[in-house]
Amino acid sequence: MSRAVIIYASTHHGNTKKLVEAIADKYDIETIDAVSCRQADLSAYDLIGFASGIDFGRFYASVEQFLEGNLPEGKRVFFLYTSAKLSDRFTADMRSAAAKRGALILGEYGCRGYNTYGPWKMIGGMNKNHPTADEISKAVDFFAALL
Ligand SMILES: Cc1cc2nc3c(=O)[nH]c(=O)nc-3n(C[C@H](O)[C@H](O)[C@H](O)COP(=O)(O)O)c2cc1C
Repeated sequence: MSRAVIIYASTHHGNTKKLVEAIADKYDIETIDAVSCRQADLSAYDLIGFASGIDFGRFYASVEQFLEGNLPEGKRVFFLYTSAKLSDRFTADMRSAAAKRGALILGEYGCRGYNTYGPWKMIGGMNKNHPTADEISKAVDFFAALL
C-alpha cells in the first residue's frame, strides 16, 4: 500500500478535518496540521493530500504555503476541501503550484461545509449539518480509489 499523508487546515468549524479524520482513522495514515506545523520532510510519502476549507475562492494560505515550502518533486497528489458553495475552481492555484513540482495530480473531492462567515452568522449559518455522514463517507471512498 502507498505511504500516505494529508496536510490540512480546518480553522473555521473543523469541517474539513472531519473528512481528514475519517480517512486517517480508516486507513491509519498520518496527518499534519499546516497551522501548527510549517515544515516537514515529505520525501518518504508517495501519496500526498492537501485539505482545506475555502477562503475567498482558494485553499487556506497555511496549506498553500505548506505545499510551496515542502512538496518534493514528482509526488502523487490529491486535494480535499469543504466550502459554502461548490466550484471546480477552488483547487486551481494548488494544482498549478503542484504541477510546477512535477506532481501527478490524481483528483479532488469537495463537499459543503457549515459556514457562519459574514451575514450568515446572523441567521444561524448555512449548510448547518455539513459535511454529512454521507459526504464524509464519499471522501473516504474517494481516497480508497487512489490507493
Ligand atoms: C473568511 C471566510 C471566507 C470564506 N470564503 C468562501 C468562499 O470564497 N467560497 C465558499 O464556497 N466558501 C467560503 N467560506 C466558507 C468555508 O470555506 C466553509 O465554511 C468551510 O467548510 C470551512 O472549512 P473548515 O471548517 O474546515 O475551516 C469562507 C469562510 C470564511 C470564514
